[in-house]
Amino acid sequence: MLSYQHAYHAGNLADLHKHAMLATALDYLTRKDKPLSYLETHAGRGLYRLDGAEARKTGEAQAGILRATAQGWLPDDHPLHRALACVRRAHGPLAYPGSPLIAAHFLRPGDTAHLAELHPAEYQALSQVAGFATLHRSDGFAMAQAVCPPTPRRGLLLIDPSYEVKADYQTVPRQIGLLARKWNVGIVALWYPILTDNRHEPMLRALMQAHPDALRSEVGFAPARPGHAMIGSGMWVLNPPFGLAAEAARLTRLFRDRA
Ligand SMILES: C[S@@+](CC[C@H](N)C(=O)[O-])C[C@H]1O[C@@H](n2cnc3c(N)ncnc32)[C@H](O)[C@@H]1O
Repeated sequence: MLSYQHAYHAGNLADLHKHAMLATALDYLTRKDKPLSYLETHAGRGLYRLDGAEARKTGEAQAGILRATAQGWLPDDHPLHRALACVRRAHGPLAYPGSPLIAAHFLRPGDTAHLAELHPAEYQALSQVAGFATLHRSDGFAMAQAVCPPTPRRGLLLIDPSYEVKADYQTVPRQIGLLARKWNVGIVALWYPILTDNRHEPMLRALMQAHPDALRSEVGFAPARPGHAMIGSGMWVLNPPFGLAAEAARLTRLFRDRA
């Protein structure tokens, strides 16, 4: 039974970090005239309304992307800023792209995309906006294991679980180990929460031990509500593309100074 719905959290500070990293990587990868595969294990609904009841209930987008754009945290030519501007032009100023629509902004006609989403309502909403991709209403890890190595082999896989199943923290390093063996050139980007009880740390230790050259990007911020356990956002990237480490360092400074 899945209860997590990203509409309550879309555009929060964790999304800002994750989506800035994703957009930067895809911007770089799609500059080369070579086809790309884009895969997501946990896609969500693709398009969110920041004036919807869910977003207004938590106020997380207000403290996240709405504050960041009002205060000019991202330069106008930042890849996330460009993708966001495009989605706002098409869907209104309070629309916010999830990772599938950020990817859609960069992918070209010859590129390939596979998106998995298990929640029936989220899958239904995704199917309305993700005509560019092959959609899988199935477990995202099973989809990734079935599709990898993808064709073309040059590509990026985003793993963005909700971690509502606590076993995800053990599942992730095992799944990434299997994927890395089958797809040694693949860029694998994993999002994880930074939690007050450090529940994420054993997963990160296992990942860094198995893949010491991977990029670990972390930003800190105040909890969304008093007592809320998430106090930061992490992106762990295997085979990071050129420029991503510099963007990670820039984001760490930005969040330290402004979040
Ligand atoms: C954090 S949200 C995804 C947000 C999205 N990646 C973005 O950045 O816009 C996680 C999503 O994973 C879905 N989900 C949970 N377990 C899943 C599974 N085993 N396979 C595929 N999707 C799953 C949830 O329904 C939810 O929509």
